[in-house]
Amino acid sequence: MSLLSQSFPPSPTYTEKDIPDLSGKVYLVTGGYSGVGLEVSRVLYHKGGRVIIVGRSQESYDTAVYDIKANPGETPESKPGSLEFVKIDLVDLTTIKPAIDDLLTRIDRLDVVWYNAGVMVPPVGSTTKQGYELQWGTNVVAHFAIHALLTPILTSTAASSSSAAGSVRAIWVSSILHTRSPKPYGINFDDINYTKTKASPWLTYAQSKAGAVVLADEYAKRSVADAGVGDDGTKKNHVMSISLNPGNLKTNLQRHNTSWMRTFMYDLILYPQRMGGLTELYAGLAPDTGVEEFNGGYVIPFGRKDEIVAHVKKGLVEAGTGKKLWEMLEDEVKPYI
Ligand SMILES: NC(=O)c1ccc[n+]([C@@H]2O[C@H](COP(=O)([O-])OP(=O)(O)OC[C@H]3O[C@@H](n4cnc5c(N)ncnc54)[C@H](OP(=O)(O)O)[C@@H]3O)[C@@H](O)[C@H]2O)c1
Repeated sequence: MSLLSQSFPPSPTYTEKDIPDLSGKVYLVTGGYSGVGLEVSRVLYHKGGRVIIVGRSQESYDTAVYDIKANPGETPESKPGSLEFVKIDLVDLTTIKPAIDDLLTRIDRLDVVWYNAGVMVPPVGSTTKQGYELQWGTNVVAHFAIHALLTPILTSTAASSSSAAGSVRAIWVSSILHTRSPKPYGINFDDINYTKTKASPWLTYAQSKAGAVVLADEYAKRSVADAGVGDDGTKKNHVMSISLNPGNLKTNLQRHNTSWMRTFMYDLILYPQRMGGLTELYAGLAPDTGVEEFNGGYVIPFGRKDEIVAHVKKGLVEAGTGKKLWEMLEDEVKPYI
């Protein structure tokens, strides 16, 4: 589908009224206290879900709780669920394991996880505590580490008799800008952190968003293998893995983008953050994205199926970038999980 159609999408067809009662289900949203993630958390909460918000600021979480509870948005009849906070700073891998281990003592299922938190075009040279380029480290490496720790509970929830096939999902938030990721294959394995060569922060952002679609594709294959077979010899249900572009939205993501001209232009072309929330909810909850053909799929605004960009796809098919990235990250995060 054209970039134009992604930039100026039709109205969403999957909205709050289509989302069923989520009582008894458990959801996790990284960055769920602001921007697009806040809209996802809002709907999940008012539909009765147990919502775990991952973020680095207790204050931002408290503000979001007040906002979410006071404002059900477009949910027709609120049936409040619950909200809880897991404090993780994605720029520091050492904060992840203690927080997720603690969470895992409190939950016995996890239905959908949205790897939504992200940072865009910080000052050139910004790095994480472990020395990764800030966008790569935050958007990709830290989420991979969280995913590694959550994989067992996602797998067991998918296999449980209380879960419908296709209902347990890992959602990897990418962007239309993954189309601008480095050629030839989206990930510059020779210099992922761009320490040897100079790059604009837009290129490194784009690479991090290609990382999301590559990990979604690779996990789609691995989750099927991870699921295994039951005692009766039939294949157990597996976790679905989907990436998405939430749309061009008015959120805090532009915080590092201080040019007044750009801010003015953005005001004209950006959509309300609720629309991005609906795109993420479509990927995570809609029945039509839970079917087998959708595993490894890509969703565009405001809830449609599409294809990832050709050069990143070519990398997956011809250069095995999925396996390569997965195995590289497994090695890198091992000391922290
Ligand atoms: N807005 C758009 O037009 C657009 C377009 C395409 C894709 N996206 C993607 O959509 C996702 C959500 O972005 P958004 O637009 O909602 O932006 P946002 O309002 O800036 O939200 C980003 C979230 O990520 C969190 N985050 C950033 N760094 C973190 C860290 N080190 N530790 C923990 N949390 C951290 C932020 O928390 P703090 O407030 O504490 O920093 C915030 O909650 C991102 O992955 C973004 O790349 C957005």
